[in-house]
Amino acid sequence: MTEQTVNPGEVLLEVEDISLSFGAVRAISDVSFDIKKGEIRAIIGPNGAGKTSMLNCINGFYHPQQGTITYKGQKRSQMKPYEAAAQGIARTFQNVALFRGMTTLDNIMTGRNLKMKSGLFSSMLWWGSAQKEELEHRRYVEDIIDFLEIEAIRKTPVGRLPYGLQKRVELGRALAAEPELLLLDEPMAGMNLEEKEDMCRFILDVNDEFGTTICLIEHDMGVVMDISDRVMVLDYGGKIGDGLPEEVRSNQKVIDAYLGGGH
Ligand SMILES: Nc1ncnc2c1ncn2[C@@H]1O[C@H](COP(=O)(O)OP(=O)(O)OP(=O)(O)O)[C@@H](O)[C@H]1O
Ligand SMILES: [Mg+2]
Repeated sequence: MTEQTVNPGEVLLEVEDISLSFGAVRAISDVSFDIKKGEIRAIIGPNGAGKTSMLNCINGFYHPQQGTITYKGQKRSQMKPYEAAAQGIARTFQNVALFRGMTTLDNIMTGRNLKMKSGLFSSMLWWGSAQKEELEHRRYVEDIIDFLEIEAIRKTPVGRLPYGLQKRVELGRALAAEPELLLLDEPMAGMNLEEKEDMCRFILDVNDEFGTTICLIEHDMGVVMDISDRVMVLDYGGKIGDGLPEEVRSNQKVIDAYLGGGH
């Protein structure tokens, strides 16, 4: 099947019956769920429930032993992370993964790599056009910096920034790839209330202004209930709930999992 255009409200990504094991550890058991174009889809669940593993399957880091993942009508097998990126899937990590010695600006520029046509060889031949391209990418990155309100730290090495701002720079790098589907693994972890409110606003604005579909893992239930359209709940690798935030909140299995877990 070839890649198709997906309209808002239609299924963008479909996960069918996937299972993933690491030796004797079953990280995901027979989980099916979908992500619709344009929505903010949350994945929640206690520690070790399989949430990060699910994102890793979606962007090609892990390959489930069973089940299928279909993105934009294309069923995939053994896809690599860079292929997922080329198809429009970008992500941030649970533990910030930036180049600590590089500036905010340069870190966000690395998110543009896939968009850059000029390799070293063509840059030598066509110096002028490569320079023009570089300028256009810089302009795009500067727009992201404006959007995320991080002008003041554009030249600061990210290793020197507080954690909350590093998370914002990482969001910037993911946005630089102009993703159609953005995967966020605990974007608000370790933040204070004000930083959380800012991050919520940016996530809502990305979704609203760019039409980017977002799948996020988050532990803060207030945030999840406030910003997501639908919520999927994992516990011990299995799906125990899926639906509108208010449906999930009153689901007895979900309540039990959270009371029984460390939350
Ligand atoms: N690369 C790996 N090798 C071995 N086991 C793994 C690997 N990745 C995940 N696991 C195991 O799979 C299970 C699910 O882990 P995962 O990181 O997906 O959970 P999570 O829901 O993201 O948890 P948390 O809320 O703590 O981030 C855990 O038992 C974990 O130890
Ligand atoms: Mg995790």
